Amino acid sequence: MHVVTDRGTMKKTIRDLNISGKKVIIRCDFNVPMKNGLITDDTRILESLPTIKYALENNAKIILMSHLGRVESKEDKKNNSLQSVAIKLSELLFRPIKFVSVTHGKELEDAVANLKNGEIILMENTRFEDIDGKKESKNDLELGKYWASLGEIFINDAFGTSHRAHASNVGIASHLENGIGFLIEKELNVLVPAISNPERPFVVILGGYKVSDKIGVISNLVNIADYILIGGGMAYTFLSAFNYGIGKSILDIDSINFCRQIIEKYPDKIIIPVDVVCAYQNIGGIETFIRNIKNIGDDEIGLDIGPSTIALFDSYLQKAKTVMWNGPVGVFEIDEFAVGTKSLADILSKLDAITIIGGGDSAAAVSKFGYKKEMTHISTGGGATLELFEGKELPGIAIIN
Ligand code: 3PG
Repeated sequence: MHVVTDRGTMKKTIRDLNISGKKVIIRCDFNVPMKNGLITDDTRILESLPTIKYALENNAKIILMSHLGRVESKEDKKNNSLQSVAIKLSELLFRPIKFVSVTHGKELEDAVANLKNGEIILMENTRFEDIDGKKESKNDLELGKYWASLGEIFINDAFGTSHRAHASNVGIASHLENGIGFLIEKELNVLVPAISNPERPFVVILGGYKVSDKIGVISNLVNIADYILIGGGMAYTFLSAFNYGIGKSILDIDSINFCRQIIEKYPDKIIIPVDVVCAYQNIGGIETFIRNIKNIGDDEIGLDIGPSTIALFDSYLQKAKTVMWNGPVGVFEIDEFAVGTKSLADILSKLDAITIIGGGDSAAAVSKFGYKKEMTHISTGGGATLELFEGKELPGIAIIN
């Protein structure tokens, strides 16, 4: 069973490899949000279970690796240990997971040597190797070779990290027989057809803070999508490009030209808000005003899309056969500015269409408002999904056979 990537290449999956009795390194993305050492969202851990369970059922000796956060100092090491992930995993799998608190040396090598079929170890955060010259993040050749020497087969299942060329994905894969796991397979099976051959009309919703973060995505998707609905902080730069006053709303000054040019080139494809919810401050519990985009006051900040914009976006969404959503359309963390994002989640949940949520904040919003189960697919990749939508090659997947 092979998986087709956005480049049309076929990738081996874990099913194509004989893993029985072998030492199998599985690169997961356990980069989960944590507060005071506790995991606050375990979606990525849950999504990694099918591959781990398959390796268990097939009697592999399993070595799990992942990064967690950014590690630049000893303090970062304390706050970014994968120990809580080991505990969570053993609860979910009903079996002990041996946590190895180092990323190189005898303790790790002994733990690997003592692994029996159907046993699992989780190595400490791969980015602990970043303290000494960013070896993990810069794909240090020796480090990749060393980690590869611990296993016989490499499975990459860290979709969320596939836009990074790290020693723990690209490095290891260059030295071992390899394939992808079920999570990457699932992500590619939904995301690749959506951008290469979508069921139409294909409507994209883009929100989030800055236009500059989304220039690559807009430039690529404008050639593929039928409509792009723009909300969130980035909408105000589009409004400004049309010479509307935006008061004290966020403005991405360097992107004004881009916004102007893209709207001039695709006037019927790029749909911007017609009204917005404004306030004098970006906080909860204060008075808000609905403003037509022609009437935003000089002291006002636009913080959500307004009711007429929701209705306008709805009219495009009702016709859609594929919808892809990246970035909330308002400050959804604050109730007063959450209506736009919540309404779109509600609209999507009732559509007879393929609905894809592109990870990060939009996934958090859909989950917060209780619409997780109603969506066709919620990607575990934030940056990775965005780069795939931009048409970029993902090095963590490109390196796989
Ligand atoms: C993510 O959360 O986007 C991935 O795990 C990659 O993490 P990074 O942005 O720290 O490289």
